Amino acid sequence: MAAETSGVDDVASFYEGLGQVLNAAWGENLHYGYWEDGTDDSPVEVATARLTDLLVTLLDPAPGAAVLDIGCGVGKPALQLVATRDVHVTGIAISDVEVEQAAERAKEAGRSDVTTFRNADVMELPFADGSFDGAWAVESLLHVPDRGRALAETARVLRPGGRLVIADTAEIPPVGPEGRKVLNDICASYGVSSFATAAEYLELLAAHGFVDVEVRDISDKVVRTGTIMADVVEARRDELAKIDGPEPVDQYIGLMRRAAANPDIGYLVIAATLDPASGS
Ligand SMILES: C[S@@+](CC[C@H](N)C(=O)[O-])C[C@H]1O[C@@H](n2cnc3c(N)ncnc32)[C@H](O)[C@@H]1O
Repeated sequence: MAAETSGVDDVASFYEGLGQVLNAAWGENLHYGYWEDGTDDSPVEVATARLTDLLVTLLDPAPGAAVLDIGCGVGKPALQLVATRDVHVTGIAISDVEVEQAAERAKEAGRSDVTTFRNADVMELPFADGSFDGAWAVESLLHVPDRGRALAETARVLRPGGRLVIADTAEIPPVGPEGRKVLNDICASYGVSSFATAAEYLELLAAHGFVDVEVRDISDKVVRTGTIMADVVEARRDELAKIDGPEPVDQYIGLMRRAAANPDIGYLVIAATLDPASGS
């Protein structure tokens, strides 16, 4: 696993600084897009919503379920979930700016009754044991300094039999020298703590009481994301450079292109169930 480089405060600063700028260029779904194949020319908003759809299907919450959204961003995935399923979503993020934006968007969408957003750290969840029927972590665990602690806390607040869905960028072994360099460069600049492999996720989930774990490598479906993110930011380079100068913008563009070109950096979608016998 790549070295840990980020604390929670660094990550919050990222999402309140450069992260906000990048998000303005990318859109409100702060995650990868899903394209069916090379002929699929869906725009970013469609492709990112499609990834959320896949996660909704995997989570498959029952009507009335309480769902925890770990690392909710500005609330777009949570709002897509409540638009399609009769559930209540509690979204957490470690940036006040994101939480406020998420609550505002829910209000605008008339969904404040079925969503709650608050500042909380997944490694120290402010919820009672067994509070949730399901949880998802969409591109948030890469930022967490201790994935094991995050999964222990998630297991604690899920009821036995509760479902967990994770979407995360990942290391696809064997990682070569250029792949390792790209992974380390991302960790050094974007509030990323570490990238996990599928094997590490399997081990961690089993250690924290999860069963029926299904890991899907969807790297080929999302790979276009890096190039498009670089293109989108490049198209607005001059405007974005006015905020903090051109260096961070150019660095981001270069790194996204290198990541997109390297098969050692991939993407996993994972579904698991908290052992139904864990409460007995
Ligand atoms: C790439 S964004 C994804 C946002 C959202 N899931 C989406 O798909 O639009 C990562 C999110 O993880 C959150 N995050 C990072 N570290 C966290 C932690 N320790 N506890 C809770 N959330 C965290 C950030 O605040 C941010 O909202």
